[in-house]
Amino acid sequence: MMEHIPVLLEPVMAFLHVEEGGVFVDCTTGTGGHSQAILRGGADLLIGFDLDIEQLVVAQRKLLKTGGRFILVKSNYAFVDRVVKVNVDGVLIDAGVSTYQMEESRGFSFRKGGVLDMRFNRETGEKAVEFINRTDVEELAEVLKNYGDLKHPYGIARRIKENKIRDVEELTGILRRTFRREKAHKEIAKVFQALRIKVNRELENLSNGVKGAYRILKRGGRLVVITYHSGEERVVLKTASDMGFNMLTKKPLRPDKKEFEKNPRSRSAKLRAFEK
Ligand SMILES: C[S@@+](CC[C@H](N)C(=O)[O-])C[C@H]1O[C@@H](n2cnc3c(N)ncnc32)[C@H](O)[C@@H]1O
Repeated sequence: MMEHIPVLLEPVMAFLHVEEGGVFVDCTTGTGGHSQAILRGGADLLIGFDLDIEQLVVAQRKLLKTGGRFILVKSNYAFVDRVVKVNVDGVLIDAGVSTYQMEESRGFSFRKGGVLDMRFNRETGEKAVEFINRTDVEELAEVLKNYGDLKHPYGIARRIKENKIRDVEELTGILRRTFRREKAHKEIAKVFQALRIKVNRELENLSNGVKGAYRILKRGGRLVVITYHSGEERVVLKTASDMGFNMLTKKPLRPDKKEFEKNPRSRSAKLRAFEK
């Protein structure tokens, strides 16, 4: 497996202040890039969540090498305050899909082919392909509009619903015939993003995760959130403000050119930090 650099690692570490020790929660452990840095940086205990057991298996192997103390939990971070019953010093949410998941044939990427699944947790819930074939044009168009920022959602939804979709290749084929050639890749990626957000209820989880983080943080504790599109950002800003978080980043922090050349997925990343 290729080693990936965790997104915006430097500001994550600067805002979390792990060098002072304490308990930290990584809501989206993935393969453990940020978690590893948090443990190496001086955390006394790291509690790592992920819905995807395969990510946690890789993370565990990596974190064992740090010699630090950690607990991995296969759970939705929306329930972070039901699982973590101690006050913590810092919480990290690095939302969305990991580079590893994008590289697998699980439906996250139109480039990889295979089953149109898209669930982070493959033990429960509806696959993207089941959603597409069950829903109607109106609902599908709403999903494309709200989670993919697509310009002509009804037209696209109608084209998709004219067919019975079985896998990534079939959906991609229809979309290639729908979009103008020069724009096709970008627009197809947006359709895939919208379906993934719907299938995993990502915005609802994000809102509950920010609320849960507030409840488990000590006074003065920090929440760092990395988002990848405008819908996520809106949810984070609104929920954090409703909860009474103090925002530490007036403008979101973005990766520099050097970082996104090394890791193209970081291109749209925006980091916000909050204090309780
Ligand atoms: C962008 S990746 C995190 C990468 C990680 N920061 C690293 O350094 O390797 C997001 C991860 O969050 C997980 N995830 C997404 N939504 C989740 C949720 N509601 N609860 C728990 N994990 C979730 C995904 O399975 C994925 O592994």
